[in-house]
Amino acid sequence: MKNPFNAQGPSDPKYYANRQKLLNSFKETVESVKESRGVTKPVNLAIMGRWGIGKTSTLYKFKDILANDCKNAKVFSSIISLKPASCSDADTFCITILEALYRDYKTTAKLSDKIKNFIKNELDDLENWKITKVSISPEFERKPKTIRAVNFKDSLLRFWKQLESNNFDLAIMMLDDIQYTLTENAELLYNLRTDMQALSAEGARFMFIITGPMSIYPEMSDKAEPFTRLFEKFPLESFDLNGTRELIEKPLNAEQIDLTILQEVVKQIHNITEGHPYFVILVMRDLVNKKHDGIISLKEFTQMYPDLTEHFAKVKFDDDFNKATDAEKEVLYKMAKNSKEELNPRESGREGSAKLLERLVKKELVIKIARGKYKLYNKLFKEYLRKKKK
Ligand SMILES: Nc1ncnc2c1ncn2[C@@H]1O[C@H](COP(=O)(O)OP(=O)(O)OP(=O)(O)O)[C@@H](O)[C@H]1O
Ligand SMILES: [Mg+2]
Repeated sequence: MKNPFNAQGPSDPKYYANRQKLLNSFKETVESVKESRGVTKPVNLAIMGRWGIGKTSTLYKFKDILANDCKNAKVFSSIISLKPASCSDADTFCITILEALYRDYKTTAKLSDKIKNFIKNELDDLENWKITKVSISPEFERKPKTIRAVNFKDSLLRFWKQLESNNFDLAIMMLDDIQYTLTENAELLYNLRTDMQALSAEGARFMFIITGPMSIYPEMSDKAEPFTRLFEKFPLESFDLNGTRELIEKPLNAEQIDLTILQEVVKQIHNITEGHPYFVILVMRDLVNKKHDGIISLKEFTQMYPDLTEHFAKVKFDDDFNKATDAEKEVLYKMAKNSKEELNPRESGREGSAKLLERLVKKELVIKIARGKYKLYNKLFKEYLRKKKK
């Protein structure tokens, strides 16, 4: 039995649904850089949204668009997944990016011996840096964390020259989960900004794409305001009903699975999940495991799922709940008990709840709708909390 629905990793580009405006604007950027031979500078993109909304999937979709829809343009691209450890200091950050680029280049392009040697040398240099770095014990390392030993810009410039001599039009660097750069210090971003500008000024055609939660914007603006100005922002929201329908039907059609989900069921799934792609995929995965052909009516769906919260609890809500501290849990319970959807900190009857709510927003359990107005991130999470409190 085939089941194309998988919520555990980024979506297969074949099944990627919606976000047409964003995809078009990506494609247009690439094409105009190509057609103008670099006179039109690439637009850098910041793709922001809550967990599971499709940030990483979008990056893979971009790669797919380059391979299939932008065949005239010769573009190098690399997705770099940042982790807290890779952002611990400026050198580690740069090395992580450069290594990822060179490794990707090795696998994507037909290389001349000259380029192979170039990459080998660059990688060797980086390896040496790492070795000297660990051999210096911390007490002797006087170098402040923010001063970089690796010359990131020069290395990228050399890399671009190689690409250019191989007739590349553009290099796209996608930094997934940029929020990890914000934990240590904002210097990483200041440096990156300087490098991005210098590269552009020297004619290297790099396009940068970053992803992160919505909260990165105010946070980056506070810490490294000039950096944020280099990007065009694209917030990813939950899907509307048509979007949810596409998300459900695309994989079924692509894999020729003969299962018809009646529109009333699509509507129901949309209501329950509030159009959040992760939850839609989760429901669909389970559904296809249970039934892989025929028609699913609302009656049957309701019989199959008298209670979806239990299913979601196992894969998501239990973990969510455990992220909250005891004080935060109290606020969550309070919000769940509230018959209204929104909560104002003043109504919560608890000292310091404004701060707790802000922390819950950061943990992505609560959404800030407007100033002083908050709601739980998902209706079913609310139900889950209510049951738990009983
Ligand atoms: N546009 C989309 N089309 C198809 N599936 C999608 C789409 N967006 C998200 N999904 C599904 O939702 C799930 C989460 O997507 P993804 O991992 O890309 O989100 P994310 O925003 O990167 O999450 P995180 O914040 O955890 O990194 C995936 O399983 C993916 O299949
Ligand atoms: Mg992701």
